[in-house]
Amino acid sequence: MSLFVVLEGIDGSGKTTQTFLLEHRLRKMGRRVYATREPTDGIIGGIIRAALTTKLRITHRTLQILFAADRSEHVKEIEDRIKAGYDIICDRYYISSIAYGMVDLDIDWLIKMNSVFPEPDITILLDIPAEIALKRLGDRYSKTFFERRAFLSKVRENFIELSKLFKNFHIVDGSRSEEEVHRDIFKIVSDYLD
Ligand code: ADP
Ligand code: TYD
Repeated sequence: MSLFVVLEGIDGSGKTTQTFLLEHRLRKMGRRVYATREPTDGIIGGIIRAALTTKLRITHRTLQILFAADRSEHVKEIEDRIKAGYDIICDRYYISSIAYGMVDLDIDWLIKMNSVFPEPDITILLDIPAEIALKRLGDRYSKTFFERRAFLSKVRENFIELSKLFKNFHIVDGSRSEEEVHRDIFKIVSDYLD
């Protein structure tokens, strides 16, 4: 049976790195794997990236609606792949919308908007202090360092809070070496494999 795994965590927590390691580990076992991410590379993902990286000003609410619209397209691809027998590894999914969005928006609204999407089999949070994540991203000297650290610390707390609300949610200490983090992730995933 195919498995739908989501990796979550703040920016710089190691999601891209761990998606790659898990993808290769599962492939070596002979499984077919579709590794993907949100925001996607589709049209709506492009608008989101433009909104995040340029001075285009949109409200927090519009941004999270765009993430949901991007997801709405993305899940069609995910569901097709699941039907075709692929394991899915998704770098960010609706828990990101809720954890980031709830800094400025109502959590119940965010949960409701995202309740239409299929639930993953496993969500793994790479938990890491904001300071370490930002240092990994080379951001320790930027003007916005303190602002981003405060914001990402809040998002980290939100992820932990959400781990109590959603099922099949696992927390891994993401501040260790890539190999140690991978070992823990694989151990969790192995328990769900047939
Ligand atoms: P994310 O996708 O969550 O933003 P990345 O996987 O892109 O995170 O990792 C951010 C940076 O940290 C990259 O430069 C990556 O090589 C590095 N990195 C990832 N995992 C670790 C780790 N366990 N220890 C140290 N550095 C790491
Ligand atoms: P991403 O490109 O995955 O960032 P990174 O690779 O640094 O982890 O995501 C872009 C930003 O969008 C990131 O700060 C998290 C945020 N985000 C939301 O606010 N809501 C969402 O639904 C998603 C998927 C991401």
